[in-house]
Amino acid sequence: MTRHLITSALPYINGVKHLGNLVGSMLPSDLYARYLRARGQEVLFICATDEHGTPAELAAREAGVDVAEFCAEAHELQKGLGAAFSLSFDHFGRSSSPQNHELTQHFGNKLFENGFIEERVTKQVFSVDDDRFLPDRYVEGTCPHCGYEKARGDQCESCTRLLDPTDLLEPRSAVSGSSNLEVRESKHLFLLQSKLSDEIREWVNKHQDWPVLVSSIALKWLDEGLHDRGITRDLKWGVPVGREGMEDKVYYVWFDAPIEYIAATKEWADEDPENRDWKSWWYEAEDVHYTEFMAKDNIPFHTVTFPGTQLGSREPWKMVDYIKGFNWLNYYGGKFSTSQKRGIFMSDAIEMLPADYWRYYLLANAPESSDSSFTWDGFSGTVNKDLADTLGNFVNRTLKFCSSKFGNALPEGGVYGERETQLAKDLTARVLAYNGFMEELQIRKAMQELRAIWVMGNEYLTETAPWTAFKTDPEAAAASLRAAINLIRVFAVLSAPVIPTASKTLSDALGLDLNETTWLGEDMVAELDALKAGHEFEVPGVLFTKISDEQVAEWEEKFGGKE
Ligand code: MF3
Ligand code: ZN
Repeated sequence: MTRHLITSALPYINGVKHLGNLVGSMLPSDLYARYLRARGQEVLFICATDEHGTPAELAAREAGVDVAEFCAEAHELQKGLGAAFSLSFDHFGRSSSPQNHELTQHFGNKLFENGFIEERVTKQVFSVDDDRFLPDRYVEGTCPHCGYEKARGDQCESCTRLLDPTDLLEPRSAVSGSSNLEVRESKHLFLLQSKLSDEIREWVNKHQDWPVLVSSIALKWLDEGLHDRGITRDLKWGVPVGREGMEDKVYYVWFDAPIEYIAATKEWADEDPENRDWKSWWYEAEDVHYTEFMAKDNIPFHTVTFPGTQLGSREPWKMVDYIKGFNWLNYYGGKFSTSQKRGIFMSDAIEMLPADYWRYYLLANAPESSDSSFTWDGFSGTVNKDLADTLGNFVNRTLKFCSSKFGNALPEGGVYGERETQLAKDLTARVLAYNGFMEELQIRKAMQELRAIWVMGNEYLTETAPWTAFKTDPEAAAASLRAAINLIRVFAVLSAPVIPTASKTLSDALGLDLNETTWLGEDMVAELDALKAGHEFEVPGVLFTKISDEQVAEWEEKFGGKE
């Protein structure tokens, strides 16, 4: 049997993630992991915080704490938020782990041995007062072309010209503002990607089933030609290179981050070594199907750079089989942005409403074939219509009516007729489509199908109208309530990967023990008869509360959601 390895792009450590980050990798990967588990598949679902690099150092400096301490705290914060959004990672690791240090050095050494890494001496700006080399973008000064005073060493934001840090007039450190700068020589490792280019292209070409978004970005990079890249930095925080003469260097964050997918699996296994085997998932793992989830800016690193690292090691590492890439979720015409604090962040969202509201809305509007936009009207409209009116209302009126007329158990009497046969038939077709879209990772289409399945409940109730039938033909009313309550069970099962908390509420209300591996059988006639007359239930509270116009106005105001 195939085992499914699933990874979500690793959220960067510098702060709480926004809804764009959530829908661009973590949430859809969770949907897929939950779906496959429910289908009885063996799944390993891995994520971690991406903790190295200059932004982490600067964020720590801004917070006034040591970078290791900053990352430890920020990791716990992100881990907690992931759990609050019901992200069902088997392990949520840290790229700063000893396991990742070891594996990153292993890959670096293999690439060196195999002739894909070489040492080169580069000239770089050193800040004497900061006692460190400065990455190009952390040198600031006046643009020689346009006179803009805050130009960065890599580019002038004002006239957009590309710059070299040494071009700047009156250069200073963006870290401390000090102008006590020198140009010094520094030895670095370079990854000779051009040597691997043909192999990478051959590997990419083997994956004709990848979404166009993914393969086109990969091929564009390959067509433009791979440049040799410096993969070490003069930083203290990171994975030490561990080679003689390079004692003060660490690997570049984009070199060690994807290796953390493997290392995080090792972290997971190290927690229970007798029962878990990390290597079987990653090394000579022919029976593993590996799916990665990420936003489009990450695609080059996962289709070209990381595969290059794996291939260049000349070891049989598991490479990705399928990549699900996402476009951007926009917030009122602009991007969600961490640095500009623009949009809605996971910590704000979870204080406003339970995770299921966000999960359903975001998945139903996932930026798959193009960018999509978050708007408060769109959000409240979807919640009110699909979750409150369609699903919630169906559950409530069914159970309340049954409870008031027949008591808190599925009623006796009557038999299923043509309408129920039709219901089972329609359900069969829809569930088949839903499963298909989930397997193909067509997320919006899957959500449309799920919604259509919920709609069937209301249509069925409206047509069989048990409240009317009750007066003239109570047996018929009893039969249609039995079918309707069985539909609630069906909805609980099918909705679990999307809105796990609401699904659990339904499962509890029906006195069932649905768990993460429960799914429906193929025979919908049987599924509509799974709960028999006499099976007891409780009427749950309101499943989804509607969002009011006042709330929308308040949130627009608070989050700046206006055109
Ligand atoms: N931290 C990166 C980002 O937020 C993603 C890293 S994915 C990894 O864009 F695979 F490289 F870890
Ligand atoms: Zn300029």
